[in-house]
Amino acid sequence: MCGIVGYVGRGEPSGRPLDVVMEGLGRLEYRGYDSAGVALVTPQGLQWAKRAGKLTNLSQALERRPPAPATAAIGHTRWATHGAPTDVNAHPHISQDGKLALIHNGIIENFNTLKEELLADGVSFLSETDTEVAAHLLSRAFDRLGDLTEAMRAVTRELEGAFTLLAVHADMPRTVVGARRNSPLVVGLGDGENFLGSDVAAFISHTRSALELGQDQIVTITPDSVEVIDGDGVPVEVKAFTVDWDASAAVKGGFRTFMEKEIHEQPKAVADTLLGRTTVGGHLTLDELRIDEVVLRSVDKIVVIACGTAAYAGHVAKYAIEHWCRIPVEVELAHEFRYRDPVVNEKTLVVAISQSGETMDTIMAVRHAREQGSKVLAVVNTHGSTIPRESDAVLYTHAGPEVAVASTKAFLAQITACYLLGLYLAQLRGNMYQDEIGRILAELALMPERIQRVVDNEEQVRKLAHSMKDVTSVLFLGRHVGFPVAMEGALKLKELAYIHAEGFAAGELKHGPIALVDVGTPVFVIVPSPRGRDHLHAKVVSNIQEVRARGARTLVIAEDGDAAVEPFADVVIRVPQTPTLLAPLVTVVPLQIFACELAAAKGLDVDQPRNLAKSVTVE
Ligand code: F6R
Repeated sequence: MCGIVGYVGRGEPSGRPLDVVMEGLGRLEYRGYDSAGVALVTPQGLQWAKRAGKLTNLSQALERRPPAPATAAIGHTRWATHGAPTDVNAHPHISQDGKLALIHNGIIENFNTLKEELLADGVSFLSETDTEVAAHLLSRAFDRLGDLTEAMRAVTRELEGAFTLLAVHADMPRTVVGARRNSPLVVGLGDGENFLGSDVAAFISHTRSALELGQDQIVTITPDSVEVIDGDGVPVEVKAFTVDWDASAAVKGGFRTFMEKEIHEQPKAVADTLLGRTTVGGHLTLDELRIDEVVLRSVDKIVVIACGTAAYAGHVAKYAIEHWCRIPVEVELAHEFRYRDPVVNEKTLVVAISQSGETMDTIMAVRHAREQGSKVLAVVNTHGSTIPRESDAVLYTHAGPEVAVASTKAFLAQITACYLLGLYLAQLRGNMYQDEIGRILAELALMPERIQRVVDNEEQVRKLAHSMKDVTSVLFLGRHVGFPVAMEGALKLKELAYIHAEGFAAGELKHGPIALVDVGTPVFVIVPSPRGRDHLHAKVVSNIQEVRARGARTLVIAEDGDAAVEPFADVVIRVPQTPTLLAPLVTVVPLQIFACELAAAKGLDVDQPRNLAKSVTVE
């Protein structure tokens, strides 16, 4: 959580440091939006401003009282952990002498002990945050050592927990120092200027050239240098990478909200995730996987670990991979996996799915799995993030930057990447004939166009959402791969529209949840293809009748040409004909549009729902 930006530039003091930092905060606001603040190093000394609420509150404050031209700046957008979202608790936190400013993402677990020591030493505290401890410690270390990098090194040794810290000091006007442990920080390389950010979105409009920082590293940027050291002060080589995200992808581009835009980008997200991963002959090539084929052949179990929407992508993956590869697949919420002593070993392939690559619960689960000897394959969207760095291999989803807090295009890209993984394993282990794999790949290649058709039909769903803006509870039912789609539909509605919503396996309904169905209760039902096997379709059509018999209003998502649902549906939303296992890529789209539109109809902030943050970097 929390977004962090740092900037330092050459030349006369100017307004650029503030502009760069405010623009970066705008792009990182999805990470937290309880409060925001900036600190600037100016010839008149350190200047700062911070405000509770969204970034606009800070912008207005800065317009009312513009700060002096500066040489360096840091900025922060907060998702509160310790202390309410007030002006005082907002970052930066300032040392008692007013010369040092510090911003922080993460939690300093031993802050109470450190605070007591500082209080006993006469330091007074202004805020209720854990961060302020680090600001005072850093200022005292600076006074002792005379150097911000050395001071940061000394202080980080005392801190426990997860943190990214950035600091500036009035006596070092062309320097920003950062440190990271279990929280993200990347460097952007400019010409006569350098940048720091929680992720590349912070500086994407200024440079594509970036550096990944490792665990427990300290970085010092000046206009012309970037130096990285480890906790012992030894210089370290860090990995450079080029940001391939398009800067325009991080602006709304004519849409009312980022979420709406990202829903419309889904055909491209899926197409880009498929791109370049097959040979002309139809063979899958996932060269970037880097896990020995012998190891992949010997895998006897797959465990998918993820949280929230990414975990639902994992549920879809389970159906596909088990069917194609005949390997048992378990899906587990990363925070549960980590604390229940799971049975995994060197024959287990752990697949960690994450859009941000920074979800702390998933990071901890990845570490735990590796400690047990399992190979970890990351399915991640964000380059330079922690999960791929700490995994044995990575399959990137090419969804581009996802800015809206609620995940949409990343979900479809995650499912697509998992299909590729399943087919690749089937190819490698000889579970399927190559022509079968080729047929599924050909179907996958048609998915962007099919998704586009669902998006083009958005008007019907939008009208439905407007007509339902006063509902208080919505149920979602699905079987097989429709079950995770139902759960995802419910999650979207909860997080965006703050409406009670639950997703059920349709077969489970009669075991209890059907008691929730009353006259007029809206129930979405995701209907599988009638052309599929196992009488799945007939079973779901029966489930529609069961809820309808109890007065439910049935909102049915069904394939084009599926006439069997019509007598029992109050509303039918059509999706193109698609093989059962691939259907989530189309059936979830109306549910995303519905939640987005219903939230908008209620006048809610679609991109930044209350209490949430996009990257959940605390456990
Ligand atoms: C829901 C949503 C969250 C994330 C979850 C995992 O719309 O966005 O449930 O899916 O917090 O985040 P990542 O994928 O970044 O690990």
